[in-house]
Amino acid sequence: MLDAYRTPDRLRARIALHERFGDPHHDLHRWLFDLVLTRTPPPPPGAAVLEVGAGTGRLWRVNAERVPPGWRLTLTDRSAGMLTALRGTLEEAGLTAELLPADAAALPFPDASFDLAFANHMLYHLPDPSVGVAELRRVLRPGGLLVAATNGANHMRQVRELARPLGALEGVEPTGVADLPFDCENGGATLAARFAEVELHRHDDALEVTDPQALLAYLRSLVHLPEAVTPELEAALARWEAEVLAHATPGPTRVERATGVFLAR
Ligand SMILES: C[S@@+](CC[C@H](N)C(=O)[O-])C[C@H]1O[C@@H](n2cnc3c(N)ncnc32)[C@H](O)[C@@H]1O
Repeated sequence: MLDAYRTPDRLRARIALHERFGDPHHDLHRWLFDLVLTRTPPPPPGAAVLEVGAGTGRLWRVNAERVPPGWRLTLTDRSAGMLTALRGTLEEAGLTAELLPADAAALPFPDASFDLAFANHMLYHLPDPSVGVAELRRVLRPGGLLVAATNGANHMRQVRELARPLGALEGVEPTGVADLPFDCENGGATLAARFAEVELHRHDDALEVTDPQALLAYLRSLVHLPEAVTPELEAALARWEAEVLAHATPGPTRVERATGVFLAR
């Protein structure tokens, strides 16, 4: 059972739940690309485009065929493992980009280097999101556009409630259960301190999860176990898993999603 918690690929496990049970007509990464491409003024031809915390590169996978031909992409992430996954995604998508490791809190680029920057679902990972926002403002040219997707306070509320008992277990650190330091509700103020124009576009809907095991896989991806797991901890996890499955069976389990995209200039 413990092996199921040791997956190296937590992000993919989480994306899988959204892809399997989300509305196929609404894709976050396609939606935010629509918002960028239909903006007035649009990004200039030959735009220099940055993504920080690019993860596995899903933004580019789902939009590969409509990336304007002249765009020069610089994609970064703090994690070497993510950069490896990103390289694979870009190859499959047939896109060319410069890839480099970078902490969003200390970007290795001169001032005013980019016309467009993406920081999706990552500013809340920074100890102080306002430092990342200041860095993004610094590397954007005047009038450049920042696109920062994040979650609302009610995002995955039912899943977070199911994960909450884990916080009481000795040595277990559940992620994704606490309030975020950069979300749809508080992110606007952080952005407004650096950008003259800030808009929030919200999209709220729900997943209807019909496979209890898929729900459990998502929940396990939130759990960081200590190196050595005691028999007591293993038993407590087994009890928690049984409770989750009892809650989710026969299903479906409704899981609210609350997401939004900030556009800032
Ligand atoms: C939830 S994932 C989002 C990935 C991608 N932006 C997306 O929307 O699919 C968060 C990403 O931020 C990266 N990350 C976390 N802290 C970071 C930091 N300080 N600087 C750069 N990347 C960071 C993680 O490695 C991870 O790839």
